[in-house]
Amino acid sequence: MDFAGQHIVVTGGSSGIGLVTARLLAKRGAAVTLIARRSDQLEAAKQEMGGRTAWAAADVGDKAQLEAALDAAVHQNGPIHGLFANAGLTGGFTPAVQFDPEVFEQTIRVNLTSVFWAIQKVLPAMIEAKSGAILVTGSMGSKRGMAMNPAYVASKHGVLGLTRAIAVEMAPHGVRANCIIPGFIKTEALERIPPEQQGKIAQRVPQRRMGSPEELAEVAAFLLSDAASHVTGQDWAVDGGVLESIEV
Ligand SMILES: NC(=O)c1ccc[n+]([C@@H]2O[C@H](COP(=O)([O-])OP(=O)(O)OC[C@H]3O[C@@H](n4cnc5c(N)ncnc54)[C@H](OP(=O)(O)O)[C@@H]3O)[C@@H](O)[C@H]2O)c1
Repeated sequence: MDFAGQHIVVTGGSSGIGLVTARLLAKRGAAVTLIARRSDQLEAAKQEMGGRTAWAAADVGDKAQLEAALDAAVHQNGPIHGLFANAGLTGGFTPAVQFDPEVFEQTIRVNLTSVFWAIQKVLPAMIEAKSGAILVTGSMGSKRGMAMNPAYVASKHGVLGLTRAIAVEMAPHGVRANCIIPGFIKTEALERIPPEQQGKIAQRVPQRRMGSPEELAEVAAFLLSDAASHVTGQDWAVDGGVLESIEV
């Protein structure tokens, strides 16, 4: 997996899965542009990663900001070969009857609509180049229901459907699209959970542990790379076996 000469944009690149994947892509030779809201985190990542790392601050839920950030990415690092559309909100846990419609709309906008906006923006150049790789971050909520989290589950089912639609339409143009499905990956959000509850989560995983962002990044890098040249329209879970297990 050599990304030399390739420019990969990573949304949600200021922390967690996005940042760790960006580090791996840069280590393997990619010029990486990070997009997220927290400029201080983005600058720290750029300093740490060095090379051709660039960043553009944007709220991906704001179409104009997202498009300006993607323009800035091209300006700084040239044509985009790969898009890792990874930024996302977890959404609060609230019973469906009480769920705030505004939170519903916001979650769909950040987790789903923004992915469509980003894909729409990068596609014309990829079609012209007859090459491109898109990777979207889904969730186990892309394939299963989850109580009290209707907006997140709807948005994550949505990104999987969007990935499949784009993959089928773009296959003749040499552009691939896949969806990575994190299980319980130990990023800051999960580390904030009390240790006892973390232990309970780990026990639900057939491997009896959470995954690391580094383990997820390896699969993300593969799916973005030319090594996955005949892989498109797929969802790939990095979950220690959770989705394939039943509780007995
Ligand atoms: N960790 C897991 O176990 C797990 C499980 C299932 C799915 N996921 C998915 O994995 C992705 C990454 O999550 P993570 O676990 O790595 O958590 P994280 O560390 O909280 O990362 C979330 C990233 O998304 C960015 N982001 C959030 N809202 C944004 C917005 N409106 N505009 C721009 N950027 C925004 C954040 O950056 P700023 O705050 O700087 O904007 C941050 O870089 C998400 O899509 C999440 O749904 C994670």
